[in-house]
Amino acid sequence: MVRVNENYTLLQGSYLFSEVAKRVKAYQQNNPEKKIIRLGIGDVTQPLVPSVVKAFQEGVEEMAKKETFHGYGPEQGYEFLREAIAQVDFQKRGISITADEIFISTGAKEDTANFQELFDTKISLAIPDPVYPVYVDSNVMAGRAGKFSHGRYTNFFYLDATIENNFKPEIPKKRFDVVYLCFPNNPTGQVLTREELKAWVEYAHKHGSILLFDAAYEAFVEDPSIPKSIFEIDGAREVAVEFRSLSKTAGFTGTRCAYTIVPKEVKVYTKKGHALSLHSLWFRRQSTKFNGVSYPVQKAAAAVFTAEGQKEIKEVIGYYKENARLIYETIASLGLPCTGGKHSPYIWFKTPMDSWRFFDYLLDKVQIVGTPGIGFGRNGDGYFRLSAFGERQNVLEAIDRLKTLSW
Ligand code: MLT
Repeated sequence: MVRVNENYTLLQGSYLFSEVAKRVKAYQQNNPEKKIIRLGIGDVTQPLVPSVVKAFQEGVEEMAKKETFHGYGPEQGYEFLREAIAQVDFQKRGISITADEIFISTGAKEDTANFQELFDTKISLAIPDPVYPVYVDSNVMAGRAGKFSHGRYTNFFYLDATIENNFKPEIPKKRFDVVYLCFPNNPTGQVLTREELKAWVEYAHKHGSILLFDAAYEAFVEDPSIPKSIFEIDGAREVAVEFRSLSKTAGFTGTRCAYTIVPKEVKVYTKKGHALSLHSLWFRRQSTKFNGVSYPVQKAAAAVFTAEGQKEIKEVIGYYKENARLIYETIASLGLPCTGGKHSPYIWFKTPMDSWRFFDYLLDKVQIVGTPGIGFGRNGDGYFRLSAFGERQNVLEAIDRLKTLSW
């Protein structure tokens, strides 16, 4: 008899998007003639941009020749890619991040899930509600959760993001070791101003906390008063780690490439108070458990950071942003209080019934798939998320269908 890791028994149901996919599949099987429009999981629909495709093909060609073939790559990712990221995402914008502080990976999902391994199992954690479920579940798997009671784990402190605080969680009065933040937010689409983010960095300095900042949706921010990176804030280098991804930025959900920035200054401490560099520990973790992203993918990723690549991805982001605007306006016109849709591909709104009932209602009545808010946490009940990553034609059709609804 092999004993299970009991922590896994504390996980609630199946992973949100697996449950959504299961229900949609069942519906389609029972209603094969119905055309379903998928605005659920934030999965991109536009193809890779031309300069990325060209570089990808060149990368494959290189792999096909003895002289240019690549085996295992460098642990942190190829320098050509890390340099390009450091320059375009940070240095050109006046932010001091260097290539050796960047770790290339296959996804912000895995990085945000894995990063907690570097912390003691007893650390205190503050996690927003609603939230991308990976932060919660990965800490449950690691044994930090306590019990599940009334929709929440007893050992986590939940940062409430509700309509009352405009979906911007208040800074806690108490100290927490590690705080997860995600802006532009998944699922609410809300953003923080520079002053608001500065207050979180000050909190972390005051308490000796570490902020795990998920910036997977930064490409959707246009307003210069809204930070795209936590490292735009003075003092963040000592207290923050940032997760970024090419999934939504450049259509890499299926291609897989992301990067995590761990500044050299961030420290963690042994029981005896000895300081260790989080950067060195993440390097150690990644070089033990991960063997890098394929060469052609890293070559394709580097093309995102060329002038041509930047121009091309901006157009695609603009396309999704227009979808977001159209969906937001439709939801607002239905009289449902909503947020997001401006600096974010997500539209978050209050539903006239509980989240899963609304999910089934929408699927049944107008064959639109969204994501039930409850899947992002207790505060998400009675809310719903629509994603703007669809084809324009489908978004327009979804809008027409939405307008026929009444409750
Ligand atoms: C989402 O829909 O929240 C995201 O696509 C999920 C993810 O990025 O893993």
